[in-house]
Amino acid sequence: MIRKLVLRCLVQLENRNSQIAPVIDEVIRKNQLSEADRRLLTEIVYGTIRWQGHLDWIIQQFIKPGFQLDLQMSYILRVGVYQLLYLDKIPNHAAINETVELANQKGQKSKNFVNAVLREIQRSADSLILPQLEVDPISHISLKLSYPKWLVKKWIGQFSPKWALEFCQASNQIAPVSIRTNTLRIDRHKLAMSLRKGGNQVVESRIAPDGLLLTKTNPIRSLEEFQAGLFQVQDEAAQLVAHLLAPQEKSEIVDLCASPGGKTTHLAQLVGNVTNVVAVDLSTKKIERIQENCQRLGITNVHIQVANAKTDEIEALVAADSILIDAPCSGTGTLRRHPDIRWKRTAKQILDLANLQLEILIKVATQIKSGAVIVYSTCSTEVEENQEVITRFLEACPRFSVEPAHDYLPFLPANAITSDGYLQVFPHTHSVDGTFAVRLRRID
Ligand SMILES: C[S@@+](CC[C@H](N)C(=O)[O-])C[C@H]1O[C@@H](n2cnc3c(N)ncnc32)[C@H](O)[C@@H]1O
Repeated sequence: MIRKLVLRCLVQLENRNSQIAPVIDEVIRKNQLSEADRRLLTEIVYGTIRWQGHLDWIIQQFIKPGFQLDLQMSYILRVGVYQLLYLDKIPNHAAINETVELANQKGQKSKNFVNAVLREIQRSADSLILPQLEVDPISHISLKLSYPKWLVKKWIGQFSPKWALEFCQASNQIAPVSIRTNTLRIDRHKLAMSLRKGGNQVVESRIAPDGLLLTKTNPIRSLEEFQAGLFQVQDEAAQLVAHLLAPQEKSEIVDLCASPGGKTTHLAQLVGNVTNVVAVDLSTKKIERIQENCQRLGITNVHIQVANAKTDEIEALVAADSILIDAPCSGTGTLRRHPDIRWKRTAKQILDLANLQLEILIKVATQIKSGAVIVYSTCSTEVEENQEVITRFLEACPRFSVEPAHDYLPFLPANAITSDGYLQVFPHTHSVDGTFAVRLRRID
């Protein structure tokens, strides 16, 4: 039953617009799974997607050259090999038998084929030899750590083979749940104590002042502290962005690209739930998610608007002092939490996103007053969406200057700030989601 549901999730994830967490949530909801089954389903779906490239490399060595597997068969074999090689708690015979049953619909011949391939892999996978890192770093990293070659090549060119190797390793780790204390209701220490009492394992973030990491926890929505609005789920690095904007009380604050409201609610919190924050996103559905979070957290100073940041329909911008543009991006900094992203992105998408990001930034820049501050941020690691957007922006809008991130985030280690004064962190340098943010002031 669980393997069939796994297969259903994997086939749905073939759709480029699908996202791993909602696909799994829906299957869990529709099938009313027990806690144990829920965990197993989640683990196999995430693991199979994360290791898909590596699994395919192994499978290819055990089928005849040129033999084309159909989509269904590819997934059946991937699920089988994933369990054999990565899930110690499932005995090999059970992993093989359950996987063979998945091929039932396709007939006895297919079942025999799956059985034979899996048994051969169980016997001989250890003896496979990868291309050497020193000789062919692209193939080595791509096949060993399961990333598309074009992205590994891009990262090696953009940074170095060492960077690419370490980033890919760290991005395959399962990230702890990261939360931000709702300081309007409780302080971090008291929240940590309360969560620990409930049996959760909690450590304090070393880089986000109000952040906690839940290294072992029950489902988040079931926690009393979540229901009571004592925290917001948010990566540690994402928690730095509102501090970089450093909004002041009694000022005008606008958060564009705001849904689901992680940073909106943080901004609202930093100004003590009194100063108004205008939060903007593209659709009513998106805006509803901001409202839900505000309601749960007891935040009442957020005013919402459905609008497109590429237009001049956001009146609040004219008088704004602090503006956040947390731009739509490729999300390559979040591969720990969204392993499917690596198989969905294309080089063209990254360039299209960079053009959209620049367009939004320039449109906003032309509407705001002198002295106003924009923070531009992404959860991308791609130079096109980060440094290059800022370079292109400063060429187009020379009346802006960069204010060094260190002045606003003095508690960060030096290697979290680039020589240009940008905030930039990665999973392998700070054990956080890859995040980029720049503070720009209009100075004319
Ligand atoms: C990275 S997410 C924002 C995450 C959010 N700031 C948070 O911290 O929870 C980017 C958001 O930008 C929105 N978006 C994309 N294009 C937009 C546009 N042209 N105008 C306004 N919002 C846009 C998307 O709907 C999406 O919700």
